[in-house]
Amino acid sequence: MCGVVGYIGDKEATSILIDGLEKLEYRGYDSAGLAVFHDGGIQIRKYKGRLSILAENIAEENLSSKLGIGHTRWATHGEPSDRNAHPHTNVAGNIAVIHNGIIENYMKIKEWLIEEKKIQFKSETDSEVIAHLIDHFYEGDLLQAVYKAIDKMEGAYAIGVICKDEPDKIVAVRKDSPLIVGIGEGENFLASDIPALLKYTRDMYLIENDEVVLLTKDKISIFNALGQEVKRDVFEVTWDAQSAEKEGYQHFMIKEIHEQPKGIHDTLMRRLDKDNNIILDGIKLTKQDLEKINKVYIVACGTAYHAGLVGRFAIEKFAKVPVEVDVASEFRYRDPFVDENTLFIAVSQSGETLDTLAALREAKRKGARIMSIVNVVGSSVARESHDVFYTWAGPEIAVASTKAYTTQMIAMYLLALYMGRTKNTIDKAYYDQTIAELKTMPDKVQQILNHVGEIQQLADAQFNNESVFFMGRGVDVNVAHEGSLKLKEISYINSFAIAAGELKHGTIALIEDGTLVVAVATQHHLFEKMLSNIQEVRARGAYVVAVAKESNKEVEKTSDIVMYIPDTMDELAPVLSIIPLQLLSYYIAVARGCDVDKPKNLAKSVTVE
Ligand code: AGP
Repeated sequence: MCGVVGYIGDKEATSILIDGLEKLEYRGYDSAGLAVFHDGGIQIRKYKGRLSILAENIAEENLSSKLGIGHTRWATHGEPSDRNAHPHTNVAGNIAVIHNGIIENYMKIKEWLIEEKKIQFKSETDSEVIAHLIDHFYEGDLLQAVYKAIDKMEGAYAIGVICKDEPDKIVAVRKDSPLIVGIGEGENFLASDIPALLKYTRDMYLIENDEVVLLTKDKISIFNALGQEVKRDVFEVTWDAQSAEKEGYQHFMIKEIHEQPKGIHDTLMRRLDKDNNIILDGIKLTKQDLEKINKVYIVACGTAYHAGLVGRFAIEKFAKVPVEVDVASEFRYRDPFVDENTLFIAVSQSGETLDTLAALREAKRKGARIMSIVNVVGSSVARESHDVFYTWAGPEIAVASTKAYTTQMIAMYLLALYMGRTKNTIDKAYYDQTIAELKTMPDKVQQILNHVGEIQQLADAQFNNESVFFMGRGVDVNVAHEGSLKLKEISYINSFAIAAGELKHGTIALIEDGTLVVAVATQHHLFEKMLSNIQEVRARGAYVVAVAKESNKEVEKTSDIVMYIPDTMDELAPVLSIIPLQLLSYYIAVARGCDVDKPKNLAKSVTVE
């Protein structure tokens, strides 16, 4: 999720742009840049790395300007570098564009621009095509040129555009990615996020989808997709700056839990073509490649490891290939059986976890094909892999991983289904059924998020527990492990997860009156067994909170409380069943007054042994 800012008025644009971008640093980024109208032309300054590098480089020069746009980049296409940083320009350098989002048909546009217009691209980004498209349509009216350009674009975008020949305006467009306008006196502002503008104004226009904005220093015009001007009420921001970064949420973690429908949508939908064939981002896993693979390792740490457990289930189910899942800190020291017929899949949100990176290097040294599922473009794990499958969850700020986990699972399901279809180990009907059900995941996750109140009440009643058990069978036990990690790392409650069938082999000795047991029971073929396990622990006084599909009313007879999820295929249930567990952990930690976003002793990325 990139940061977008724009300014037009009578003050110094450069300092306002830098200041606005500083307020957006929390979103995470890998490079920063700006374009200002100065000395009769457009000046571009952009650098890989921290915003301070940009600020320091321009501090020594006079870039006095009343008009400009600025950007912090979170790379999706093209690794972090100076040339991939925004703004991007047309060939003549008289049109500059900043972009937040993904242009899904950028390759088609880029090929046309190269073949028909002989354009020499300067970057690897999707965003650069926007500047050349606007240039192609420009005939002296920037607003009209932008309308014609966006008509050719598919995907998500919030863009800001300035033009040397019209230095009295900024044109901006919103489609899916957020965009706001700040209303000033003799000046106006543009941003992707409220915190960037709070220092200058609390009066905003929230731009809606498919709307185009024309900003001058004295006038703000908002147009719909048909070019008709629309009226918009002023939105007065009452938040303080700190809560504005969380867009009104109390913590980044709960904000990121609520961002999961979008993350799942973005990770999934951009990898399905119109016939539901899976596009694996240039990853070439041919039938021959797959037939050569006789072993798959999924290696990761923490939550990413738990996503790997679901990945094993999916790959074995759909691709019929044996999979071994291991924590990276163990894999790297056990001299694993790895050779050129091994597919090694590293899973990592940050792409910088040292244990995971070390395990990857060990597998690579032994000849394995290295694939990684990563959320940070250009991170070490990504750079050292043969193939990378990016989760498009956007920056994950909270230490406790949530949206990265669900998008990692989506990536695994796509990979498993791709392998299954390529190897013909699943038939077309089952494949189509599973893809169709995957497409319902964003809405079904949203349905759960629409009922957080009930989970909050449960958390308020249960937050005093000093130990909590999570249990499940089949793929549910993998979700139980993740639910247990979420709870322990942010609430400091001693929790653990077990395969429910293991209760009788020791753990049940710990169950006593009032013990909180969370039973994940979504798998139809294992439900009767789970029911017995629930009865076993309740007979010893446990308080049982079940997670089950909404059509399963049977579970109410034996559980104290049921957190329901929408009906779905058993195979895909983990994508939904983790959501109530994330919410339960979050609200319990809040009730206990814990520092949810920055739990004690933990770091967002563990780059040490
Ligand atoms: C999960 O909530 C934790 N923050 C932690 O277990 C994390 O998943 C682990 O450190 C792996 O991080 P990575 O995904 O960035 O490699």
